Amino acid sequence: MQEIKFFSGENIPLELHKVRIVQKLNLVPIERRLEALYEGGFNTFRLTTRDVFLDMLTDSGTNAMSDNQLAAMMQADDAYAGSQSYMRLEKAVQDVLGKKYLLPVHQGRAAENIISIAYVRKGSLVPMNYHFTTAMAHITDKGGQIAELLYDEAYVVNSDHPFKGNMNLEKLDEVIRNHGPKNVPFIRMEASTNLIGGQPFSVQNMRDVRAIADKYGIRVVLDCSLLGENAYLVLQREPEFADSDMKTVIHTFTSLADLCYFSARKISSSRGGGMCTDNPDIIKELEALVPLYEGFTTYGGISIREIEAMAVGLYETLDLTMISQSPQYIKYLVGELDKKGIPVIKPAGVLGVHVDAMQVCAHIPQTEYPAGALAAALFLISGVRGMERGSISNQRDEYGNETYADMELLRLAVPRRVFTLSQIKYVEDRLHWLYENRELIGGLRFVYEPPVLRFFMGGLEPTTDWPQKLMAKFKADFGESL
Ligand code: F0G
Repeated sequence: MQEIKFFSGENIPLELHKVRIVQKLNLVPIERRLEALYEGGFNTFRLTTRDVFLDMLTDSGTNAMSDNQLAAMMQADDAYAGSQSYMRLEKAVQDVLGKKYLLPVHQGRAAENIISIAYVRKGSLVPMNYHFTTAMAHITDKGGQIAELLYDEAYVVNSDHPFKGNMNLEKLDEVIRNHGPKNVPFIRMEASTNLIGGQPFSVQNMRDVRAIADKYGIRVVLDCSLLGENAYLVLQREPEFADSDMKTVIHTFTSLADLCYFSARKISSSRGGGMCTDNPDIIKELEALVPLYEGFTTYGGISIREIEAMAVGLYETLDLTMISQSPQYIKYLVGELDKKGIPVIKPAGVLGVHVDAMQVCAHIPQTEYPAGALAAALFLISGVRGMERGSISNQRDEYGNETYADMELLRLAVPRRVFTLSQIKYVEDRLHWLYENRELIGGLRFVYEPPVLRFFMGGLEPTTDWPQKLMAKFKADFGESL
């Protein structure tokens, strides 16, 4: 895509869309934000949008939808079986993802559940570049284990490595040999690896993974939820594809996988999810499970209107003016924060900006959840809702011991085409203030800990009265400002 330069020389991401429907936001006083934190157990998942100013929790189901998506929703063909809306989605999947057979499911984790039921057994090991919370939970739920096989560079915060999501090929080969190929039901590759900061892998890495899989006769499963953004970064960063286009890169990736699945909440800026393949045996194995867990195979638990929005959204994922917007905003914010010395994951990835809580809150031990504390502190002083992506998001081991995360990150999601540049500058400003006052942030402890995916509904409390002290400093510095 051609870059648009400013006469001033400033490097500003310029929107190639206009805003035609708006939603009013609330910025409530800091006293109310403090109450909301106590009511929500210092867990940003448990805040309600009445108290949230900028919702940077996730891009899942929160990307802006286009006029064409909304228009398509009006032509939905509601039918239990054989709907024309499904036919349009199937065609979109064939065109955009290059796979012949499609099974819709209600969202990404439903695909993970079905794939795990079909292929994971007690004693199975699933190697992957890195886990996603729900993927791991479904595999372990069925008695399997996972092996995370990134290169060491992936964990370096201040890096310029273009493909930190690459699978470590030597380790992959070794893990398969040690565990026995027959106990490895599939290799999972996650595009734009979420939990290490939305970092992509290269096409070459995927080709090499495919070669190892073929050597041992193992399936490759590609999580395509963030494949659009991964492909966009391949166009920027992998020289072989410098003159290529989105569709070619996406097809190259998907042709290297036996089975693809996706969260449509991400890839197509809609709701829903799906699994797709060219392999008739795989489709038969999965098809048997969809009506049991999701719904009939032509709607898979998704509203038909959303199926129409998904089809249009998939095509829009190929549009560089759309797909580039969120990564460009992220790059801008990462650059500005970096200039101020605030530790953020670099190079800028996709999905959001990831602040390194291990460094910002170096005084908070991992036992007191620095990333959770930073998320709560930022909400308190700004109304910006981010998400903890650290040890709270990890699950305990089989003996009930904490497993501390490799990285303690505060993720600030930048959903597609939702925020304006002044809102992004507000985030930058408040994070800067918080960084200058970081010593005032304290730790958290659990008061209610669910056994599975505890980060969603878990309740915590501050270990001291640090939130009150942080609020007092905010009021001293900002006076009556919200
Ligand atoms: N795979 C990846 C890479 C994801 O990021 C997600 C969801 C899923 C699978 C599961 O999809 O939510 O539709 O069931 N990520 C969201 C997030 C929740 O906030 O990063 P789902």
